[in-house]
Amino acid sequence: MASPDRPQQPDASRTAAAAAAAAGEGHEVAAPGTGSRALLPPTERFATRTAGMTASEIRALFAVASRPEVVSLAGGMPNLAALPLQSLASEVADLVDVDGMTALQYGSAQGVPQLREQICEVMREEGIEGDPNDVVVTVGSQMALDLLTRIFVDPGDVVLAEGPSYVGALGSFAAYQARVVHVAMDEHGLVPALLHEALDALDRQGITPKFLYTIPNFHNPAGVTLAHERRPQILDLCRRYGVMVIEDNPYGMLGFTGETHPALRSYDADVIYLGSFSKTFASGLRVGWALVPPLVRDRLVLAAESATLCPPSFTQMLVSRYLSHHDWRSQIKTFSENYRERRDAMIAALETYLPEGCSWTVPDGGFFVWLTVPEGVDTKAMLPRAVTARVAYASGTGFYADGFGSRQIRLSFCYPTPERIAEGVRRLAAVLEAELDVVRTFGASARTELNRGPQTPSPDTT
Ligand SMILES: Cc1ncc(COP(=O)(O)O)c(C=O)c1O
Repeated sequence: MASPDRPQQPDASRTAAAAAAAAGEGHEVAAPGTGSRALLPPTERFATRTAGMTASEIRALFAVASRPEVVSLAGGMPNLAALPLQSLASEVADLVDVDGMTALQYGSAQGVPQLREQICEVMREEGIEGDPNDVVVTVGSQMALDLLTRIFVDPGDVVLAEGPSYVGALGSFAAYQARVVHVAMDEHGLVPALLHEALDALDRQGITPKFLYTIPNFHNPAGVTLAHERRPQILDLCRRYGVMVIEDNPYGMLGFTGETHPALRSYDADVIYLGSFSKTFASGLRVGWALVPPLVRDRLVLAAESATLCPPSFTQMLVSRYLSHHDWRSQIKTFSENYRERRDAMIAALETYLPEGCSWTVPDGGFFVWLTVPEGVDTKAMLPRAVTARVAYASGTGFYADGFGSRQIRLSFCYPTPERIAEGVRRLAAVLEAELDVVRTFGASARTELNRGPQTPSPDTT
């Protein structure tokens, strides 16, 4: 539709017909740009699939939320303070000095061979025996997710995902016009009986989902971990119904108890496994990977080539050097200890400050706590008031494709100091108390707003 503040566009079909008549042509002319699209200027004629792309609500508030006086419990930014920057600086200098002609050049679309071997060594920690030939290095695991959706999903295809699920995955699913069916979790992760129900219901409608997308460890945003005994059950169900499994595991090594959870991929070589150096090393390098069966690999590499030609040689070679020369296992341990300290601060503050009727998950690793607030509070509508009170969070609706989550909040404990976390939760508690006062006085509808669908990922909400 033409907007009121823009000069009216000439009606293209009438103009073409007039031109044809003026030229004395008696037959119909197919004018370029006819139809309703012609009412829009060329730079606004977006593909239909972009309609599913919406910005996160916290991004809309970003200018305010990123002010230093606001405690942000919204973002999933890793805390890099523990990185050995001085020795990384000499590693970078050495990389340019010694290997500059390769590091600054295009490389293989599948990724640097030596790094692919090292990635297999990293995955061995979680019981995976992978072949470097089946590893595809991507620009973060987000790119792997996007490309896998591109090569598997036609518009209208069903994909299964936990409810709630990772906002970046939902963004890719929306971009390729998938229909997301959520399966609920409890405190032990995805519930096999509910997965069975969903598969059965779809089967009765003649629908086979393209895949199950799952985050088994230290879930983003739910903070829960899939119980070990459920892992083979979920794989059995998916096998029985002919559904592929995509296991997304960026937080798996960031556990707080010293326990490593066996990857789903360690039970079944047909599982597609996604890994990343974003949380265990440095997110700005944008190095992630997919471990895939050979047939999938060939398609994935073609899709990757069309997206980026090849992943950056420079950052891959830097990661490779880091893995060779540094004690990366100790570094991960240091990161985990920092995150555990922050988790403890958040849980203590929630217990101290939050009003009656709130409940939350207690994660054994990763970055996130999932908070449920009392009935009547709409966390999305409350967000601007929270930011005004100098605390930011990610409201639950962004983590569902179907508008659920208005009573939920994702709280990140990864970035602020323990003191700031405690202060942020204290401020959030005050906002919640005020909100509950309104609900008690005027009823729940006073605080209800329409929900929105999935959002595109951004560093402020991932
Ligand atoms: C569950 C999950 N998957 C994938 C990603 C993407 O990570 P990256 O692209 O940095 O590897 C994230 C980032 O926050 C995440 O939480």
